[in-house]
Amino acid sequence: MEDYITEGKAKIKSYQGKISKKLPVFYNPVMELNRSISVHILNSIDKNNMQIALPLAASGVRGIRFLKELKKRKIKTLEMNDHSPEAISLIENNLEINNIKSNKVSLHNKDANIFLLESNGFDYIDIDPFGTPNPFLDSAVKRIARDGILAVTATDTGALAGSFPKACKRKYFAKPLKNELKHEIGLRILIRKIQLMGAQYEKALIPVFSYAKEHYMRVFLKCEKGKKKVDEIIKKHDFYQDSGPIWLGQLWDKKLADNIYKQEKTDFLKTIRDEAKLDFLGFYDIHNLCKKYKIKQTPRFEDLIKKIKKEGYKVSRTHFKSEGLKTNIPLQKLLQMM
Ligand SMILES: C[S@@+](CC[C@H](N)C(=O)[O-])C[C@H]1O[C@@H](n2cnc3c(N)ncnc32)[C@H](O)[C@@H]1O
Repeated sequence: MEDYITEGKAKIKSYQGKISKKLPVFYNPVMELNRSISVHILNSIDKNNMQIALPLAASGVRGIRFLKELKKRKIKTLEMNDHSPEAISLIENNLEINNIKSNKVSLHNKDANIFLLESNGFDYIDIDPFGTPNPFLDSAVKRIARDGILAVTATDTGALAGSFPKACKRKYFAKPLKNELKHEIGLRILIRKIQLMGAQYEKALIPVFSYAKEHYMRVFLKCEKGKKKVDEIIKKHDFYQDSGPIWLGQLWDKKLADNIYKQEKTDFLKTIRDEAKLDFLGFYDIHNLCKKYKIKQTPRFEDLIKKIKKEGYKVSRTHFKSEGLKTNIPLQKLLQMM
């Protein structure tokens, strides 16, 4: 059955039913934030007149939101592709519903890799697949332009976050972690894999905004070109605890994280803005520490944060885990405080 939904400024016809890839055309309302963040990023970066590609467009909701919510002059062309003919006719319908008759928009009904490889390249490519992005990474990396943004979603968190370590080795060439850091490490494994794909073509892919949420991981990478820049990226690939290799560098551009929060003031984006200011890896899980060291009363987070700051250390909450504190205070000192 079909249904109408409003998301951002778009009105979308989609199919009702259990969210699964068996739907005639896929639409997942849980991914609204994923799409909103794409809008905020494109509105924040210092780039106009962009050639935008959505190789796995499904209902077209992301493209229609771009057309309705991106600032004037941002879009030069917007190309939406899906290998499903039903998806393409739904996108046509959804463009009509939203009164969009722009000649900037074109639709393609091809395999995503063929669509990308037959193009001349794009300033923004969004790889938003079912499960792993692996089948599309090579062509996406080849077609992302200098200073362009490559956005990648992965929903195979079972592999990336340690439930299926063999799958992680096969798909991402790395060993995951199974402790409280599993989502952060998974995200860093995904980033390294994408960077390795870029490295072959002398493209340095620098994360500017990344997060793990619910069933998925998401990263936006800026593409710079040159052997030296790629070498700098590779230097930041290494093992961590019993996992890896992972990307050890930045997950966020601080200014961009601040800008995104200003555009949508949610707790989730505020936490990311705060943790983006701290450029180190990992966090302490305060509840786990209480259990492990038999601390009877879990301290109030706000009190602990104040105390840590007073001692001159950096600290913030982390979006990876509500029980987590990201701080550079040594463990022994933290335990004394607790
Ligand atoms: C997760 S959905 C995309 C969701 C969409 N980006 C959104 O924001 O709502 C994945 C889409 O990719 C399409 N797809 C899967 N494999 C493909 C391929 N090899 N080439 C082109 N489209 C493909 C599916 O038909 C499906 O519509």
